[in-house]
Amino acid sequence: MSKSPCFIETRTEGPVAFIELNRPEVLNALNRGMVAEILGAMEDFDKANDVRVIVLSGKGRCFAAGADIDEMAAAESIEMELLNQFTDWDRLSWIKKPIIGAVHGFALGGAFELALCCDLLFATEDAEFGFPEVLLGVMPGAGGTVRLTKLVGKTKAMEWLFTGKRISAKEASDFGIVNKLFAREALMEETARYARELAKMPPLSVRFIKESVLKAIDASIYEGMQFERKNFSLLFSSEDQKEGMKAFIEKRKAQFKGR
Ligand code: CAA
Repeated sequence: MSKSPCFIETRTEGPVAFIELNRPEVLNALNRGMVAEILGAMEDFDKANDVRVIVLSGKGRCFAAGADIDEMAAAESIEMELLNQFTDWDRLSWIKKPIIGAVHGFALGGAFELALCCDLLFATEDAEFGFPEVLLGVMPGAGGTVRLTKLVGKTKAMEWLFTGKRISAKEASDFGIVNKLFAREALMEETARYARELAKMPPLSVRFIKESVLKAIDASIYEGMQFERKNFSLLFSSEDQKEGMKAFIEKRKAQFKGR
């Protein structure tokens, strides 16, 4: 990013990059500045050669309590349309490296949408998810109705979206929204440990697996398989494929370089 961020904090620890939402006084409410900074940091880390995994979390009491209500309360529909702010969120779909979301406390509204953009989601046992937009007289606008429905199906999505009901961490885990639950004090340590392990995987394989899984969400089986096959073949041009298979034959641990 060109200038220092105001609403997030970023750092790297070896191959793992961390992005922390940092407006704790308003429960990390996502104003437009914060969203721009998140997108900028994601893109920077995606381009950085030494980064292999990105972790997204929130500082303070929670991951985030949703879009900044103060910022949009007085908006009119044409203004919202011209702002076109949610189109920017599409940039998250183009991040090639794996993103792990680490949620503690609330992930509501736009913050739940942000969490659903992550590739893996870890949460604390007391985390709460939900789309309370309906209680504000609106609805999700950054992919919530789409990503939640694809993940849990129509019935549960309708129930949660119609009522704004909070989804417990246990329910989120039961419905496959969350990969793993941890005690609050263990969340970041366990997430970082997982991220470091993931960073040891061959980056090109991880990249193409991510692309193929995301493609599969929208594609027909035939189209998805075609896409998968091309990516499979492509990996045979990589040094890591040669190294991975040679190491297997030589009964030693492979050293992957991401080339
Ligand atoms: N926007 C702006 N400010 C927010 C906020 C939000 N989404 N959520 C919390 N805050 C602020 C509060 O106004 C409060 O500020 P003050 O201290 O200046 O009064 C501060 O953060 C702490 O919040 P609370 O005192 O409300 O904390 P609580 O523990 O009593 O309640 C909560 C926590 C249940 C999460 C409650 O804050 C809440 O309901 N927040 C709003 C949740 C919500 O509706 N999110 C959806 C937003 S719309 C959206 O996201 C649209 C979209 O799709 C993009």
